[in-house]
Amino acid sequence: MSVRYVEDKKTFILQTNHCTYQMKISDYDYLLHLYYGERIDDEDLSYLIQPQDRGFSPNPNEVGNDRTFSLDVFPQEFSSDGCCDYRISSIEVKNGDGSYAFLGKVTDYKIYPGKYHLEGLPTLFPSENDTVDTLEIWLKDVSSKVTVILCYSVFEEKDIITRAVKVLNESENTMYLNRIMSATIDFMESDFDFVHFDGRHTMERNLTREPIAYGVQSVGSARGASSHQHNPFVILCDHNANEDVGNCYGFSFVYSGNFRCEVEKDQFDQTRIQFGINPKGFSYQLKSGEKFTAPEVVLAYSSQGFSKLSHLYHDVFRENLCRSPWVNKMRPVVINSWEATYFDFDDEKLLDIAKKSVDMGVDLFVLDDGWFGKRDSDSSGLGDWKVNTKKIKRGLKGLADEINKMGLKFGLWIEPEMVSEDSDLYRTHPDWCLTIPGRAATRGRYQLVLDLSRKDVCDYIIREINQVLESANIEYIKWDMNRNITEVWSHVVEPEKQGEIYHRYILGLYYIMDHIILEHPNILFGGCAGGGGRFDPGMLYYHPQIWCSDNTDAVNRLMIQYGTSFAYPISTIESHVSVCPNHQTGRSVSLETRGVVAMDGIFGFELDSTKMAEEDKEICRKQSEFYKKHYDLIVKGDYYRLTDPFENKEYAAWQHVSKDQKEALVSLVLTEKEPNAPQRYLRFKGLDSTAFYHIAGDDRTYSGKVLMTVGVPIPNLAQYESIQYYLKKIEEGKNG
Ligand code: DGJ
Repeated sequence: MSVRYVEDKKTFILQTNHCTYQMKISDYDYLLHLYYGERIDDEDLSYLIQPQDRGFSPNPNEVGNDRTFSLDVFPQEFSSDGCCDYRISSIEVKNGDGSYAFLGKVTDYKIYPGKYHLEGLPTLFPSENDTVDTLEIWLKDVSSKVTVILCYSVFEEKDIITRAVKVLNESENTMYLNRIMSATIDFMESDFDFVHFDGRHTMERNLTREPIAYGVQSVGSARGASSHQHNPFVILCDHNANEDVGNCYGFSFVYSGNFRCEVEKDQFDQTRIQFGINPKGFSYQLKSGEKFTAPEVVLAYSSQGFSKLSHLYHDVFRENLCRSPWVNKMRPVVINSWEATYFDFDDEKLLDIAKKSVDMGVDLFVLDDGWFGKRDSDSSGLGDWKVNTKKIKRGLKGLADEINKMGLKFGLWIEPEMVSEDSDLYRTHPDWCLTIPGRAATRGRYQLVLDLSRKDVCDYIIREINQVLESANIEYIKWDMNRNITEVWSHVVEPEKQGEIYHRYILGLYYIMDHIILEHPNILFGGCAGGGGRFDPGMLYYHPQIWCSDNTDAVNRLMIQYGTSFAYPISTIESHVSVCPNHQTGRSVSLETRGVVAMDGIFGFELDSTKMAEEDKEICRKQSEFYKKHYDLIVKGDYYRLTDPFENKEYAAWQHVSKDQKEALVSLVLTEKEPNAPQRYLRFKGLDSTAFYHIAGDDRTYSGKVLMTVGVPIPNLAQYESIQYYLKKIEEGKNG
């Protein structure tokens, strides 16, 4: 088993193929953290904890005169609150007597094969060839009778440990949970960089890296969505860590709502990291006997830099996260109508776009926003999920059938969580929105947010959307969400429970997706939140792919896709070729380069095919053909970032390598043309150094070793020009 309890040492040992995690039940039954890192055998590491008398670090009552035992100093698995430890805490409870205190001691544990279950929440699941074992540890506060269950599942071959927490109120009284962190890790003597992925609408997931200083640093979202501004994925790493070397610890939160990741470097150079639901606006009432389940954190460790860490996340997110059967199928090449028509279309125009895209290698036509209710602009119609027959005279079925006759699949855009004030739904049910009586409602993109904490609202959405899905041959859905939440107040719950609404909204959303997405396994669902405003593992449990950004500018996408790739596999990143000048930036980039960048993801088009020259359509056809031919390599291979586009202003490059190292695709875009520039060489990665490779279009062969250590000369490209190298390993006995 990958989880063991060593009775005589009182240690829990979690082993994956390449990493070890150890904890210990200390004297007086506190749970201390001992180690997380490179795999070591089952050796006892208790000696790492060296008790000392530390001034102003108090001692629990039961230790008597022993001033060397302090929870303010010892590394812990789940830190107490209001008792002994002044660092950031894993929990904050307001007990029935009004006290704010939690001091948990180990009372029990359980080890079993398989994965724990978190009610109502998405989590990783074991796939066929995985060995997964679980450890649950009970920590009880004897005074308040609050019990916390720490859950750990170990994916042995995947080198992944997941964590979650459950809180039980076993007292007679009502208590309030104001903070609950799903994972806490204390690193003894440590000096890390904190890496996080920040940005804004149309410029998501830019990498930020900073040394951890004394005090607390944090990233998070209080927008009701994981957000464009910060992603629920962070890395702690050595100062010298780079793509290839150094210790890196990844933390990914499987949740689509408010989150917070806090890092504290304490007075003794120890680093504590915590990840969980954002405590801002969070207060969960637990009556006697009630339970709260906090979402999952996915931990990964690499001793070989960021590339290896990304591979661990890519593999586990590809194979153990998404419930849709589409996750393993070849995704269709999409043409999406948004940038082609915005709200201005009728069915003739749509059919024309579809028809003219057939010979571009497109498989699926997606009708974006504007097809329903009174939706001629973004100020009306949301909530009225009935086709607008003034625009679509044939109705959805008629339109889908026509498109199917062209040999294309038909897909549709929806935004089920929102409502326009100018809609029949709002006129009938104004109280179905998150608004506070007596306060004017804040609008975002003119729209309001439906109260998904209400079951009646969720059930209405499920009914309406399922009716749409059944009304025509719809094979793809783009599920959008275009504003963040404000006035988080539900019209149907008592004041003491209003602090639950942010979280209950997300539970409602998961419930809706369980009943729409998981009940339509044949439909391919793509997530979207104004592009990448909810690009998180919670969403990827339902959607195998997500629209990465509303910014389709190929040069900006180099950065957006670079940051996204740290945690998320190529199979999840939707990326389209759009027109030039680009609608977001006004920049012009060759069609070839736009194709190369869009192929660094789930490839498609976002343009008006009726306005394209035949030569350009031919280029697109070749791009689709090339992408489909190399689909497995691109989407299922190992991904290497060859450059950092934030550092290297001259060119951006990346590489896909098949798992068996038999083929690879290297792509490069020249981002800054210097006159009379020095000769640059591009070094590849991830190849078999003992093998020889043939590069398409090149007469000679190269050893993997030469390609990785010496490299190939980058040709003299023009600004924004690109190049791709397709490499094939020369099999023994065969001549390349
Ligand atoms: C935001 C999305 O990201 C766009 O692609 C488009 O679907 C619009 N919403 C439609 O309103």
